Amino acid sequence: MTGTLGPGDEELIRVATLARQRAYAPYSKYKVGAAIRTKRNKIFTGTNVENASYGLTICAERAAVFAAVGAGDTAFDAIAIVVDGEKLPSPCGACRQVLAEFSPDMRVILATTGGQRKVTTLGALLPEPFLPENLR
Ligand code: THU
Repeated sequence: MTGTLGPGDEELIRVATLARQRAYAPYSKYKVGAAIRTKRNKIFTGTNVENASYGLTICAERAAVFAAVGAGDTAFDAIAIVVDGEKLPSPCGACRQVLAEFSPDMRVILATTGGQRKVTTLGALLPEPFLPENLR
């Protein structure tokens, strides 16, 4: 599903773009910025943080989720993800699953620093997620 930008979405992209400048990606050189807007209308940011032991790298999306959850905010309205270059970002499977834990129907805004935009939903990106209720 491709949707349209809503109120506050360009601001969320702007915040994610600023966060992206703080990405630590000396190995891949692929800098990613993410900004999550919570249902309580707070914004938390994340960047990818790589490591010389490559497998320890964390994606920008999960860094943003963990910042929000660590601050006590667990219900998300939207996430903006920003990269440079020609291709829009696409959150990895692990990040989709981590987002779904909290807000399986949230909006996902994909953007490039050059002005490309795509609006979708987590439900479209990860249908039939494994959720807390599966454990009950
Ligand atoms: N990365 C993200 O931060 N988010 C994604 O959605 C995909 C990948 C990061 C991880 C790594 O630092 C770099 O991009 C290349 O994989």
